[in-house]
Amino acid sequence: MSKPEKRSCIDLIKPYVPGKPVEEVERELGLKNVIKLASNENPLGPSPLALQALQELLPRLHYYPDGNCFYLKQSLAEKLALQPQQLVFGNGSDEILSLITRTYINPGDESLAVSPTFSEYEFAMRMMGGIPRAIPLRGKYFEFNLDELAAAVNERTRLIFICSPNNPTGSAVDKERLDRFLQQLPAGVLVVLDQAYYEYADCYGSDAGLEYVRAGLPVIVLRTFSKIYGLAGLRIGYGAAPAEVIADLNRVREPFNVNSAAQAAAQAALEDEEHVRQSRALAAEGQAQLREGLMKLGLEPVPSQANFCFVDVKVDSRKVFQKLLQRGVIVRTGDIFGYPTYIRVTFGTAEQNRRFLEALEEVLKR
Ligand SMILES: Cc1ncc(COP(=O)(O)O)c(C=O)c1O
Repeated sequence: MSKPEKRSCIDLIKPYVPGKPVEEVERELGLKNVIKLASNENPLGPSPLALQALQELLPRLHYYPDGNCFYLKQSLAEKLALQPQQLVFGNGSDEILSLITRTYINPGDESLAVSPTFSEYEFAMRMMGGIPRAIPLRGKYFEFNLDELAAAVNERTRLIFICSPNNPTGSAVDKERLDRFLQQLPAGVLVVLDQAYYEYADCYGSDAGLEYVRAGLPVIVLRTFSKIYGLAGLRIGYGAAPAEVIADLNRVREPFNVNSAAQAAAQAALEDEEHVRQSRALAAEGQAQLREGLMKLGLEPVPSQANFCFVDVKVDSRKVFQKLLQRGVIVRTGDIFGYPTYIRVTFGTAEQNRRFLEALEEVLKR
C-alpha cells in the first residue's frame, strides 16, 4: 500500500482517551447494571422538555438542519443578553475548540494553558502544527496562578485556554483575578474561557465571562449542553465572543455542523430552569456524599466547583480503575492527566455514589 505521508504534526497527537461506554463494559465483562462516573454526564438525564421537543422533531428529519441555528440563537441571545451575531454553535464545544485553532493558529504559533487540564486544547493546537505550552496549577488544591500564566506570554502566544471550573481538578478562578489577568495581556491574544461546568460553580454569577464579550475584549466563552443540560449524546455547545471573532469562526465552520435534533432539544432545555436547579442540587449532594465517604477511607478529594472530583488514591490508578470496572463502576484514571495515582469521579445519584464508595473500599482493602 502506498499512501501519502501524513503531516508531521500528526505524529505529535495523542489520541483522545474517552470514558468507557457502559455498553462496552457490560459486553466485555458480562456484567449488568454498570454505572459510569467517568465523563461528567448528568445522572438525571435530559430535561423532559428536551425529550418532548425531540419527539416533535422526528417527522422532519428528512430536512437538513438550519445551518445558522436561527431559533436557538435567538433564544440564547435573549437569555444571555447578547447579540445573535456574538454566538456560534458547534457539534459539542469540542468542535468550537477546533474552529478556533483552525482560524487563528499557524504552524509554530503557541498557546498557554494550565496543567493538568482538558486534553482537547492540546489536540486542537497540535492539529494545526501549533505548540501548546502549560503552566502547572499550584498546591494540593490545584489553584490557578494567573500571574505565572501572564508572565509566560510571549510574542508567539495566540491563544490562552482557561478551563474554569477546571477539568480534571474542579478548581476554578474567580472573576476578580480574571479581570486583572485580562488587563495584563498584550494585543493579539485570544482568551478561551472554557466554562463547560460553570453552572455547577458557586463562585460565578450566571453572567460569568459574558461581560468581557459585551465589552468587546478578545475573549471567547465556551459552554456546552453536554453537562448540566444532560444532552451529551446529541453533541451541541456554543461560543460567545465579540462579533468579529464569531465572523472569523463562521468562515471555517461546516455549513450543517449542528444537527436538527440537537438544536431542538437544546432550545427546549434552555427553558427548563427547574431541571438545571435539580441537577445542580444533585451534584452538590453528591459532592458532600463522596467527600464524606472518601475521607472515611483516608482520602481527601480536591474541593470541586464542578460535577466531579479529583482524588489521590495513593496507588496506581489504572489498577484501581480495572478493579472498579470488575465491580461495574467506570471512573477515569489520572495518568491521562499526568497524575497516575489520582482518579476523577463524576458525582452520580446517591445510589451510584454509594456503589462507587463501597467498590472503592473493597478495592483499596485488597
Ligand atoms: C472542560 C471541557 N470542555 C469542553 C468539553 C467538551 O464538551 P462537549 O461535549 O460540548 O464537546 C468537555 C467535555 O468533557 C470538558 O470537560
